[in-house]
Amino acid sequence: MTEEENVHLRRTTADLPPTPPDSEDGGPEKAGTEIAASSSTPSFPLPPPTSTPTQVLDPDKKTPDSWLPRDPRLIRLTGVHPFNVEAPLTDLFNEGFLTSPELFYVRNHGYVPNCEDEDVLNWEFSIEGMVEHPIAMTLRDLLDQYEQRTYPITLVCAGNRRKEQNIVRKTKGFSWGAAGVSTALFTGVPLGELIHRAKPKRGARYLCMEGADKLPNGCYGTSVKLNWATDPNKGMMLAHAMNGEMLRPDHGKPLRVVIPGQIGGRSVKWLKRIVITSEPSDNWYHIYDNRVLPTMVSPEEAANNSTWWKDERYAIYDLSTNSAIAQPAHDQQLCLVGSEPVYRVRGYAYGGGGRRVTRVEITLDKGKTWRLANIDYAEDRYREARRQNLCGGVLDLWDHEASFCWCFWNLDISLEELGQSSDIFVRAMDESMNIQPRDMYWSVLGMMNNPWYRVTITKENDYLRFEHPTQPALLPGGWMERVKNAGGNLANGYWGEQIGGEEVPEPVTEAAAAEVKMTKDGLNNLITVDELRKHDKEENPWFVVNGEVYDGTDYLKDHPGGASSITAAAGMDATDEFVAIHSETAKAMLIEHHIGTLDEKGKAALAGEEGQPEVDSEPTAVFLQPRAWRKATLCNKKTVSWDTRIFSFKLDHGEQTLGLPVGQHLMIRLRDPVTREAIIRSYTPISQTTQKGTMDVLVKVYFNTNERKGGKMSQAMDALPVGHFVEFKGPIGKFRYLGHGRCTVNDVERRIKTFIMISGGSGITPIYQVFREIMQERSDDTRCVVLDSNRLLEDILCKEELDAHAKDNHEKCRLMYTLTSAPDGWEGLRGRIAAPLLKEHASRSAHGAGEAMVLVCGPEALEKTVHKALLEDGWKDDDLLFF
Ligand code: MTE
Repeated sequence: MTEEENVHLRRTTADLPPTPPDSEDGGPEKAGTEIAASSSTPSFPLPPPTSTPTQVLDPDKKTPDSWLPRDPRLIRLTGVHPFNVEAPLTDLFNEGFLTSPELFYVRNHGYVPNCEDEDVLNWEFSIEGMVEHPIAMTLRDLLDQYEQRTYPITLVCAGNRRKEQNIVRKTKGFSWGAAGVSTALFTGVPLGELIHRAKPKRGARYLCMEGADKLPNGCYGTSVKLNWATDPNKGMMLAHAMNGEMLRPDHGKPLRVVIPGQIGGRSVKWLKRIVITSEPSDNWYHIYDNRVLPTMVSPEEAANNSTWWKDERYAIYDLSTNSAIAQPAHDQQLCLVGSEPVYRVRGYAYGGGGRRVTRVEITLDKGKTWRLANIDYAEDRYREARRQNLCGGVLDLWDHEASFCWCFWNLDISLEELGQSSDIFVRAMDESMNIQPRDMYWSVLGMMNNPWYRVTITKENDYLRFEHPTQPALLPGGWMERVKNAGGNLANGYWGEQIGGEEVPEPVTEAAAAEVKMTKDGLNNLITVDELRKHDKEENPWFVVNGEVYDGTDYLKDHPGGASSITAAAGMDATDEFVAIHSETAKAMLIEHHIGTLDEKGKAALAGEEGQPEVDSEPTAVFLQPRAWRKATLCNKKTVSWDTRIFSFKLDHGEQTLGLPVGQHLMIRLRDPVTREAIIRSYTPISQTTQKGTMDVLVKVYFNTNERKGGKMSQAMDALPVGHFVEFKGPIGKFRYLGHGRCTVNDVERRIKTFIMISGGSGITPIYQVFREIMQERSDDTRCVVLDSNRLLEDILCKEELDAHAKDNHEKCRLMYTLTSAPDGWEGLRGRIAAPLLKEHASRSAHGAGEAMVLVCGPEALEKTVHKALLEDGWKDDDLLFF
């Protein structure tokens, strides 16, 4: 190559505009804004200082790459050879928007083909297959015959962040950290221009590419859709230079394909052949690499059944939305004394397929609340620049709308807040509202891993220490490894923070759910979402379960849960609540109220609502809302006995009360940690209804035993680590105690002189709430007879509190416990609550007509027995209330 020829391939400093100021990442702008380039002379980032490595490193000396000098800072991910590396995340981030070629990540499936400098211009490649005009040309021809263009492009390996997957469960891929991503100015020719010249024939649909590297399963090759290659908006190019200098050997010298917005695996290096075809590439690496197989396909299944691999639906092209935190770095410590009061958290984000990242959000409370970070899209500054030569090509991007590069984000957070939090999460969303998922989608190749990126915070004396999820390759460190080594289950839905109750409850199978028929045959009435919405009032409430519409009007009076639970769902999708709370019998009753099916548009509209994160509204005086789930964070968990806990939840602010009338309940919604299925149950908190800032819920945990499945909800609650939130909705229930003997049942007021309160096990909690209200109000002379049944003495819940109230109020209260396994010397009652006990202590004849009411809450068997016995004793259903 003559010096004159080489001029195309070298960086000419004359091309370059003045160097822009160093840091462009934000300052005091309002969070969520993007930082604009200065309007007059857009200054775009230039390549960072570079130095071509000159030394062949020791590990390479005995490999086929023994001729190739490399940078020693790179972290090797697959031992010595082939060369697969990423830079330390901090070094990569500190280079800025553009990465120097020596720190740019490398993914080689085998040895690096060696093309000496003098052979570069004679490098031959071809475009053949289903084309009218096959092309065979050299790099010299490409430089001579086409205008050279320069684009900033981010390449990302599909395995970026795979180590996180490997720690959860070993995949078939090696362990990338979060630095399998790099950006450079690539110079070359838009691929579409060559394809137009070759003129694809009718029926041609794919563009297959092959590299010069000969590997165990043939050369490296893959394909993309042909119409992407001819679409200028996709930005695909044949590149020969990177940051203004000839491609380095590891990055495809002398010629490669660069496909922006797609996984790096499609950007074939050392390009030799392009073949236009009607089918996707049959190259071994196209089929057995770069796929996200369904999550249930195990490594064994994938190895035994090749049909999974040949299904083009599982091939990956566009990158998924992703982000990571770079500062604080892994293991960084921040001194709480003497440091700036505010710390700037920073990182990167990228979207796929040219889609722009439109928001980056940070949470310090595990997703309960989010804040917007500032975003710096340095790529825009190239768009805004005038047409000019840059790095041996023309920079002229004013009409390129797609976003092919990463962006940087930052957010200032006070040290105080960091000190109070146990982790920082980031998630990004793109312009199509593709948002990073909370939880990992594990797959056999571990590709496209993009759950929220979590950095943990540990307080050590006056320091905060930060831990990233992992460290690349076999490097030790990271909170995931720590949690796993301590026996945590990283797949439990709480980042492994589970405490006890690890057994996975069996999910309700579709078959089981389908057994109960809830729809009328032959009812072909399609209902639109607008019609549904018209029935969102109390008078004539319609609601949706599994896409079917039901009219709740006739049932308002008789609903055991009270009218409020129907009206709370009016005009809405109540599937989660209905399915989770109702018995098979109740489900069967729904059929009578079936009035039609929601049309497809309506289903889509409701599905969209379900997926929406809850918008945090202005602080309210009371916490509970009847029609919206509200989140509260678990702030304390007190073990009362081996199977009983008091969970304390923090409300939105210190002055907020729960907003639960006495006698009513709330619903708690948790997601099954593994299946993410909603588990909903109603509870009555034991804290005073006037308590501010927090509330306490007493839960008896029904553990799985060899003989029977335990309680789904109570076990999931038990597994909930402090600092995580659950969701609440309410109030619900048909009973309310207003004070001084006044109460309402389904909003009809009654006056009661005596309450007979019958409970079993944790059924005491709603009873206790009413009992306490009466006992602590001196001027309330309503009488209470309490009959509480348990197996063992230690099973009696709230005993101390009940006893104390009874002692202070013996004139208006009789408190009795009955035990089925009473200890020796037990002076209370013995045996189950059944007819004899009820006759003695809850006899109908002892009370005037309409003056007494029986409140019952306990296990189903107890409620049934009590119901029967009370009716036989002469009680009327109107006087009985089953919680
Ligand atoms: N091209 C060839 N010929 N051989 C390869 O091994 N690896 C692919 C792609 N092109 C590969 C290839 C993969 S998986 C990636 S992620 C990118 O190149 C990496 O490009 P880089 O090494 O320049 O970062």
